Amino acid sequence: MTTKRPRFRDQNTSNRKIHLGPACLCLLCVLLLGIEFLFLENAILFESPVRTTISNPVPGNSARAVCETASVKTTVNISVNGSPQQHEIDPRTLLVHFLRDRCGLTGTHVGCETSICGACTVLLDGQAVKSCTLLAVQADGCSVTTIEGLCRNGELHPVQESFWECHALQCGYCTPGMILAGVQLLQSTPHPTREQIAHGLEGNLCRCTGYSHIIDAIQRAASRMK
Ligand code: FES
Ligand code: FES
Repeated sequence: MTTKRPRFRDQNTSNRKIHLGPACLCLLCVLLLGIEFLFLENAILFESPVRTTISNPVPGNSARAVCETASVKTTVNISVNGSPQQHEIDPRTLLVHFLRDRCGLTGTHVGCETSICGACTVLLDGQAVKSCTLLAVQADGCSVTTIEGLCRNGELHPVQESFWECHALQCGYCTPGMILAGVQLLQSTPHPTREQIAHGLEGNLCRCTGYSHIIDAIQRAASRMK
């Protein structure tokens, strides 16, 4: 009997070890396996597209398609200051960049590029437009007049002449747009009041704030063009 009790205790103890041990390990293992599974799953999800791209490049894949789309060109024909201009351009090219970069006419300025300042104003079929918010393809087949096209036989346009005489410019950045907006204003309103001139030029900003002289110049041009 004396020999059996310790053996029984030992058996119980060893039994507990056998039963409890695997139970604890199972819980830990389940947790660890779960965490490991999550890491592996993330690794597979994260890495699989890279592996596919590197080991199995597909001809004509989406990246190449994007590049090919970006390289599509279109041809436009625009009469600029009376000269035909035919160029192959990116369809996204703005008219102001077409004029400056393709036609070499840098008198058209780029200011805000958001249709606020009017520095990029040109005449499109006689109408003042902001060339920073117009695509060159939209002007295809049209006639554009820039500040370089206002002179005739070396003579300044009356509005240009009046800007000169009235000192209607300081830095000159807004001046080409102001002059072209003034030309259109005088076409529609040959004898404008100062208020009408101010209203007509409200889409053109002068950061040097020389508005008074600019209005003087438009009035002088109006009296010249009678
Ligand atoms: S640059 Fe076109 S409106 Fe300012
Ligand atoms: S003269 Fe400088 S912005 Fe008008």
